[in-house]
Amino acid sequence: MIEYPELVKSKYIYVYNKINPKKPIRINHGRKIYRYKTHYRKTIDHQDYKFGKGMYGKEGGMSVDEHVSMVNKFFPGYILDYKVYSNSIWIDYKIIKGVPASEVFPKTPEFIKKVYRFCIDHYKKTAPYAHGDWILENIMVNGDDFKLIDWDHLDIYSEQEVFQRIYNDVFIENMKKRIIYK
Ligand SMILES: Nc1ncnc2c1ncn2[C@@H]1O[C@H](COP(=O)(O)OP(=O)(O)OP(=O)(O)O)[C@@H](O)[C@H]1O
Ligand SMILES: [Mg+2]
Repeated sequence: MIEYPELVKSKYIYVYNKINPKKPIRINHGRKIYRYKTHYRKTIDHQDYKFGKGMYGKEGGMSVDEHVSMVNKFFPGYILDYKVYSNSIWIDYKIIKGVPASEVFPKTPEFIKKVYRFCIDHYKKTAPYAHGDWILENIMVNGDDFKLIDWDHLDIYSEQEVFQRIYNDVFIENMKKRIIYK
């Protein structure tokens, strides 16, 4: 029987185009994430999509092959399989148990400090590479065990960039949400 997966999220991508190679174009709904019974699948509507620093259409960036081999190095077993077609890509991920840190309530100062500590310690293990996207939605919490998902930004960043980004993702973004929505 065919399994119809659940669409979790649909987002845009930036890609270069042949007509104007300097200017990246935005493709809305170019990136989707589906939940299957056994795994998550990310689909990308372009064979040339770049990961890491180049994912917003900036110069450089990693090809899907480079990206997958780097993720395999830092998080073995997370990527189950991937495939590149003439106009699209999919990547399958192991289901990481737990709830995203964004869904943990209440977000006590102790909890946020623990998340911050986890991100800094994680970077120390991967430096000079860094996960690069430490928003609470990307941190799966299972009791005392924290794991990062969504490794699309993985790349080499300067130490300053990393500390700034972690600070912003963990403290500032979270504070903004509280002020604006609650
Ligand atoms: N391997 C996984 N295990 C458990 N949950 C997952 C996994 N992959 C994705 N999810 C769930 O789906 C959500 C979206 O996935 P993901 O963060 O990879 O999407 P995204 O398209 O990169 O979004 P964004 O760029 O906004 O972070 C996650 O926040 C998480 O709740
Ligand atoms: Mg994410």
